[in-house]
Amino acid sequence: MKVLSLSIFGVILAAWAMSGTAAVPASPPAPAQQDVKEVYLDKCAVCHGEDGAAQTARGKKLKMKDIRAADVQKQTQAQWVDAIVKGVGQDMDAYGKELGAEMSRKLADYMRELSKKK
Ligand code: HEC
Repeated sequence: MKVLSLSIFGVILAAWAMSGTAAVPASPPAPAQQDVKEVYLDKCAVCHGEDGAAQTARGKKLKMKDIRAADVQKQTQAQWVDAIVKGVGQDMDAYGKELGAEMSRKLADYMRELSKKK
């Protein structure tokens, strides 16, 4: 019985190894590690704009500020993460549930980087 289960294990292992090399691409894009830029462009740029200046139809309608504006820059990184996780007033949805804490932090960092450009 012991020998049998070992050889079955061996067969499964061999099959797993072969299917691994055949079917799985070198670096599958795992949704959990989705590129922060992609998420930003997908979910945030519609209002904040690709460059964070909020010069979009919705950004203008909501009278949004450029992330480079002094009073926006004055906010801490924790406040930005908070804004992303909990939303802002009536206009910006809370993204904490959907994106999780880590992605929210990464998005805040990404926007801070954006705001240093131009
Ligand atoms: C429906 C439009 C809309 C979308 C979509 C949106 N936001 Fe906002 N966001 C706002 C508004 C309005 C504010 C309030 C401040 C302002 O006027 O700029 C704000 C504020 C913020 C702030 C606080 C700093 C600031 O500008 O006052 C951060 C950080 C932020 N948003 C990040 C994000 C991220 C990251 C996403 C995508 C996951 C996102 N937002 C999606 C409308 C939006």
